[in-house]
Amino acid sequence: MSGTTQKTVTITLDGTNRKLTIPLMSGTAGADVFDIRKLYNELGVFTYDPGYGATASCESKVTYIDGDVGILQYRGYPIEQLAHHSNFLEVCYLLLNGELPNKAKADEFTKGVMHHTMLHEQIRSFYNGFRRDAHPMAVMCGVVGALSAFYHDSLDINDPESRRISAFRLIAKLPTIAAWAHKYTIGQPFMYPRNDLTYAENFLYMFHAVPTEEYKVNPVLSRAMDLIMILHADHEQNASTSTVRLAGSTGANPFACIAAGIASLWGPAHGGANEAVLKMLADIGHVDNIPEFLSEVKDKNNHAKLMGFGHRVYKNYDPRAKIIQQACHDVLKELGIEGDPLLDLAMALEKIALTDPYFIDRKLYPNVDFYSGIILKAMGFPTSMFTALFALSRTVGWITQWQELIQDPEQRIGRPRQIYTGPAERDYVGMADRT
Ligand code: SDX
Repeated sequence: MSGTTQKTVTITLDGTNRKLTIPLMSGTAGADVFDIRKLYNELGVFTYDPGYGATASCESKVTYIDGDVGILQYRGYPIEQLAHHSNFLEVCYLLLNGELPNKAKADEFTKGVMHHTMLHEQIRSFYNGFRRDAHPMAVMCGVVGALSAFYHDSLDINDPESRRISAFRLIAKLPTIAAWAHKYTIGQPFMYPRNDLTYAENFLYMFHAVPTEEYKVNPVLSRAMDLIMILHADHEQNASTSTVRLAGSTGANPFACIAAGIASLWGPAHGGANEAVLKMLADIGHVDNIPEFLSEVKDKNNHAKLMGFGHRVYKNYDPRAKIIQQACHDVLKELGIEGDPLLDLAMALEKIALTDPYFIDRKLYPNVDFYSGIILKAMGFPTSMFTALFALSRTVGWITQWQELIQDPEQRIGRPRQIYTGPAERDYVGMADRT
């Protein structure tokens, strides 16, 4: 556990002589924490924190976010520097191992991942069980969860080598699973992975190529893909990562835990927001309709939300959104797409929202999802694939956090409590006596 400070807090229950003094602990950066593990035993009370807005579920050394300033760091390295200088597999190594690799380690890691990108040939038949119009996230949940039916040799969560192999398999195979989910929905043959390509190039190849002609990966698109994967790789204890940790705390195998994370990410309040942003922009349609849309968002009787805005942690600009916005311009320019109406509409919407007291007062700023959908659409991905791309990028973060959980001596099965406000005890009433 992190270091204890000299500071404490003492809780006294009014009307009783029961009190508890709790030490304040501090980490490398960020908010200090009160260790409340003795609270119930000492005072017979629980804390109440729906949505866990003020609750630290674990100690972690992986990712640090300062939401007030808009800082994101993977293992201490600022996201802006990793986005500019690094590549996705190097970031995967950093997240998993805690340090940047030297050349030899980087080459060994890359070779290890790129030589595990194939799926067991029988997994192809899984896809046939889905309707052609199945959402790719439904396919991803199903196929990833079923990987534990194939890889019995890496399910021992207490064996470091099994954990290492599972991490490699998941990072290596998620792009193949995602690309094949797309190919299945459009009725095209699956493209087998190619070990001679980079991780991002290989994904674009499997996604876009067809057997009938040569496919040259556009370097602008592969660089953009690599950048998008870096930006989505990890993000502290978000909903899907917390889902993976909770599943992992029961001893479930890593494939089942990652499938649970994919399911959790799917929600429009979380990773599904990038898809929802595109739908929102299409519904708005034109800059002239922005004021009417924003008035609907501000109307409490309306359930409209400005998708891609707001964040539980960021109360300032999401640093990833700034990087993606710039990448949007670069990709559109490189592709010769002069003035994407969606990007123009999004930028106009952002500009208006950021001057509106409703959003300013609530500290609602663009998050990573506000622009990611626009760049993905410009890169030729269907909207239904956006969250699947988020999932394949976040898999390294999920598996890193899962490994940290398994090795954390302080961790035990996650089991929150509640405040019960249901009926007091009462006796059963026979049918004849019911009204
Ligand atoms: C991701 O956690 C992570 O790290 C997630 C993520 C990651 O990398 O893993 O960063 C990825 O999920 C980004 C978020 C993507 N989701 C969206 O863009 C969906 C739209 N955003 C909202 O649903 C919302 O902002 C959340 C879910 C992101 C955060 O919700 P909170 O923290 O529970 O905030 P809240 O609902 O308590 O909002 C506070 C106020 C409320 O108004 P009041 O009741 O105070 O009047 O702000 C309002 C909300 O109604 N509000 C919004 C809004 N988000 C919050 N109003 C309009 N549009 C919005 N988008």
